[in-house]
Amino acid sequence: HTKYTPFKPVAIKDRTWPDNDITHAPIWSSVDLRDGNQALVEPMTVEQKKQFFALLVDVGFKEIEVGFPAASQLDFDFVRWLIEENQVPDDVYIQVLTQARPELIERTYKSLKGAKKAIVHVYNSTSTTQREQVFRMDKEGVKKIAINGAKCVKEHAEKHPETEWVFQYSPESFTGTEMDFAVEVVDAVTDVWQPTPDNKVIINLPATVEVSTPNRYADQIEYFCRNVQKRDSMLVSLHTHNDRGCGVAAAELGIMAGADRIEGTLLGNGERTGNMDVVTMAMNMYSQGIDPKLSLNDMDRIISVVQACTLLQVHPRHPYAGELVFTAFSGSHQDAIKKCLANQTDDKPWDVAYLPIDPRDVGRSYQEVIRVNSQSGKGGIAYTLEQEYGLALPRWLQVEFSPIVQQLAEKDGGVVDAQSMKDLFESSFMTG
Ligand code: KIV
Ligand code: ZN
Repeated sequence: HTKYTPFKPVAIKDRTWPDNDITHAPIWSSVDLRDGNQALVEPMTVEQKKQFFALLVDVGFKEIEVGFPAASQLDFDFVRWLIEENQVPDDVYIQVLTQARPELIERTYKSLKGAKKAIVHVYNSTSTTQREQVFRMDKEGVKKIAINGAKCVKEHAEKHPETEWVFQYSPESFTGTEMDFAVEVVDAVTDVWQPTPDNKVIINLPATVEVSTPNRYADQIEYFCRNVQKRDSMLVSLHTHNDRGCGVAAAELGIMAGADRIEGTLLGNGERTGNMDVVTMAMNMYSQGIDPKLSLNDMDRIISVVQACTLLQVHPRHPYAGELVFTAFSGSHQDAIKKCLANQTDDKPWDVAYLPIDPRDVGRSYQEVIRVNSQSGKGGIAYTLEQEYGLALPRWLQVEFSPIVQQLAEKDGGVVDAQSMKDLFESSFMTG
C-alpha cells in the first residue's frame, strides 16, 4: 500500500542546449579521496590516501578534493602531511569540503595553513525535502546558512593571503531544489564573495541523488547558467551520482548545457551507486577524438591502485577498464576483428569492428582481444595461432581444426589458451 509519488521535475521553458557533442575537455576535479572515501566500508588509511593521491597527480588532475578535515582527524592529518611534506605539485589545487558552519570552517582553515593553492568547498543543503524534514527551516533560514558560511570562508581567507584561495559553493541536492531558489541562494553567496571574471569562484551543482533522466539535469544546468547573476565570474561545476545508472550521461549532457567543470571519481566509487566515473567520461571523449587532458594510458595501474585503496573490485565489463571489454568470444566477432586488424595501420584512424578504441591506448594488448571458448569460430583460433606461434593455417585446416578446439572448450568449460591450442593442433595433425 505504499503511495508512489512520482518525481516532479521543474518545468523549464525554451530549452536551447545544443544537440551536439562535447568539443573540449572540462576542468576535472577528483573527489575519490572524499566522496569516494566516505562511501567505503573501510575508509582509506593515510597510507592508502597517499598512494591514491600520487595516482591522481599522475593521471593529471589539477584539482583534487582530499578530504573533509573538519570532520575527520585522519583527513586533517593527511592534509597536514600533504602541505608539510611538500607533496602537492605547484600546479595542483588541493580541495577540502566543509559544511557551512563557523566552527567547522575555522578547523578547515587550520588544516590548510601553509598551502600554496587551495579550494575551500563549502556546502549546505537547499532541497525542499531537507528544508522541510531535516532542518525544519524555511527558505530564508537556509539561505542565511549559505550567506554566513560564505562570509566566514572569506574572512578566514583574508587572514592568510600567503595562500592562493579559490572558493567553491555547493547547494547540496541542487536537483531537488526549486530552480529559482537555487539561483537566489547562489546569487546571495556571490554577493558576499564578489568574484570577477579574472577571479572566479566555483559553483558546484550536485545531483546528490540522481532522480531524473539526464536531459532534466541538463535543463536545470542550462536554467541555472541563464539566470544566475554573475555567470561570467564563476565556473559552473557538475557533481553527479549514479542512482539511476546515468551519472556519466548526466555529466555529458550537463557539459553540453553549459557547465565548465566536473567532479567525479576514477572508476565510479562514491556514495551508494557511486559518483560519475571519470574514466568512462574521459574515454568516451577520447573515442570521439577529443583529448580529455587526462592520462588514462596505464589502465592496469589505475585499476590496481583503486582496488588496493577502496578494496572494491572493478567489474570485468566496466567500460574501457574491465578485464573482458577488449575480448571477443563469438566466432563472427573474432572473424570481423581479425579482418579489421589486418587492415589497420598506425597512421589510419582507428576503425575496427567491435572495438571502440585501440586497446593499446589504455595499455592493453591485442593478445587479450581474441580469446577462444566453445562459442569461438575458426577466425579467433587461426588468429591466436598466427599471433602467438606464427602458424598460418590454410582455410581448409581452420575448418577442420575449429570443431576440435570447441570440443575441448566444451569439455573443460572455459577458455582454451594459446599453448593448449597449439598442443591440440600438434597432436591432431602432426602425429606420426
Ligand atoms: O553529492 C553531493 O551533494 C556532495 C556535496 C557535498 C557536493 O557530495
Ligand atoms: Zn556527492
